[in-house]
Amino acid sequence: KQIAKIAVLSGDYIGPEIMKAGLEVLAAVSQNTGFNYQINPVAFGGEAIDKYSDPLPDDTLKTCQQSDAVLLAAIGGPNWDQAPKRPEDGLLEIRQKLSLFSNIRPTHISTAMQPYSPIKIGQPVDFVIIRELTSGIYFEKPRMKNANEAVDTMRYNKKEIQRVAKVAFDMAQRRKKHVTLVDKANVLATSKFWREVVSKVAQDYPDVTYDTSYVDAMAMKIISEPEKFDVILTENLFGDILSDEAAQITGSLGTIPSMSTGQTGPALYEPIHGSAPDIAGKNIADPISMIKSVAMILEHSFDHYDLAEKINSAIDQTIQAKIMTPDLGGESTTAEVTEKIINSIQESSEEYVTNNV
Ligand code: NAD
Ligand code: IPM
Ligand code: MN
Repeated sequence: KQIAKIAVLSGDYIGPEIMKAGLEVLAAVSQNTGFNYQINPVAFGGEAIDKYSDPLPDDTLKTCQQSDAVLLAAIGGPNWDQAPKRPEDGLLEIRQKLSLFSNIRPTHISTAMQPYSPIKIGQPVDFVIIRELTSGIYFEKPRMKNANEAVDTMRYNKKEIQRVAKVAFDMAQRRKKHVTLVDKANVLATSKFWREVVSKVAQDYPDVTYDTSYVDAMAMKIISEPEKFDVILTENLFGDILSDEAAQITGSLGTIPSMSTGQTGPALYEPIHGSAPDIAGKNIADPISMIKSVAMILEHSFDHYDLAEKINSAIDQTIQAKIMTPDLGGESTTAEVTEKIINSIQESSEEYVTNNV
């Protein structure tokens, strides 16, 4: 029987705390299911700088390339902010080296989460942000800084826009069939170009409705009318900013996972948040973002929608039982939340067995 190979990058500060939770849930949910996997833990980020003076050592990259999927917690923090190569540089490098041009960040306010949302909710909120991840101002040259000035470069070519746009329209076809492109086309040349290229891609998807929004207005609409959206497509920097905002309307940034994919090779799964140095070592980090990343890996890299579903309903049950970390207003620890999620999974597995005798 084939064994799924998963590279595990725990990273820094709360990274190892939430990764532990994620791996415990993975072990529990796959027990007696026929899903067999092997994890390969490797150094990444600040941890790798300390050990190997490099946030993305060659061996780490090689392990990722040879795996079926990559699971990452979070990297970075004040320890390495002055390093010549920061943990964040390693993160950008791994995204680029694995050609992970499309980053999917879901915003779904489940019934269980509704009481914790800071906004008033009428209709169901369920949209995804598709963020371009390997080009734009994060990567393009020239980039320089001297005593007098600094330069970053926002550049996109047609191919880079087309491939991520296709991911967005394909996804919309499987969802509510609507794509919103977010840009700053009233000012930026790159945004005008995105509109040209994306409107042509849209013509290949007559069953998907398509509109556009300026990014400043979108920052408002995510709060005022989040139910209107299905697939939000945008470039790298806007996607970074809007996805943290979108996360917070579900109740906490600490609950949102993500998936990054390319055309071939392993996909990478990670929470959208960072290493949260302010709460590290206290056993209060919300493990849900990591546990949902595990659900995504099972669904998307290993076709185990059934196991993903089990995890997600166990999370909802845990929230309904008010076992939550402080970011959601609760008083439970990381370990307690994880334990309750595992118990719910095990109960649902027992029920399943009983129903099938
Ligand atoms: P952050 O996302 O780490 O934290 C922002 C706020 O959200 C903090 O108050 C934090 O306590 C809270 N938070 C985040 N995750 C949480 C969780 N699971 N449970 C409870 N609360 C949580 O952002 P930051 O503080 O701006 O950045 C810290 C470091 O993380 C920086 O070095 C940054 O570059 C890095 N970072 C890494 C990633 C990544 O690894 N993908 C993403 C974003 C930021
Ligand atoms: C994220 C993070 C990264 C980004 C940083 C840490 C480089 O904020 O994954 O959202 O900006 O992409
Ligand atoms: Mn971010």
